[in-house]
Amino acid sequence: MLLAIKNTFRRRRSFASRSFFTDFTGVLNNPGDFHKQELTFDLEKLQEATSEVLKIHGNSFDDSLGIKHFAAIPLTRIPGDPDSIKGHKARGLFWTKPDSTGVEVSRDIEIKEELYTEVVPEYKHTYFSKVITELQKQYKLGRVRLLLKEPRSCLSFHRDPEPRLHIPIITNPGAQMIIEDKAFHMPADGGVWVTNNEKYHNFVNGGEEGRVHLVAGVLNYTEFE
Ligand SMILES: [Fe+2]
Repeated sequence: MLLAIKNTFRRRRSFASRSFFTDFTGVLNNPGDFHKQELTFDLEKLQEATSEVLKIHGNSFDDSLGIKHFAAIPLTRIPGDPDSIKGHKARGLFWTKPDSTGVEVSRDIEIKEELYTEVVPEYKHTYFSKVITELQKQYKLGRVRLLLKEPRSCLSFHRDPEPRLHIPIITNPGAQMIIEDKAFHMPADGGVWVTNNEKYHNFVNGGEEGRVHLVAGVLNYTEFE
């Protein structure tokens, strides 16, 4: 009996010291589909701006027509067009393999990302205006949104039409993006990441508080292999 317990312990230890952690470290050291950018922003100001936007927006995110575990607040729109951020336009086209057939289907509607150049007027006084102006100088941006990932939730496994830029604002160690078979936590430290959303991916929040990222489409990013 004692020997059996000891063997179990040994097996567990050898599993723990084996490839899972090696792979995880490998992802951190060589984040192939997670590209850290040179830019940084002021995390405290990003968090203050998030509180301000939330207050203006009625302290809730748009749940995109009742779709489970997706919630957004659009920060940019087509100039002068309030309808450009309503309903399905808070979400947009993606592809997924929803069932046992493994057949890919498209969901939602195509968005003319390049037209979303204006900061939503109600948020123009916030720090996000400065952040978006700065990002627009360096990237051809699509829509910019605040995306909420609810506690203990995940998205569909899907791919998007273009890479996405992330600025983590509120996060926790269990909030991880998974691209194909690699998971990675982007810390909230003012840093900026571009992720390869043209590959199949998901986002999980295994924490007990909401995760908030600023997320933007990047229309001219050519650094992924
Ligand atoms: Fe996505």
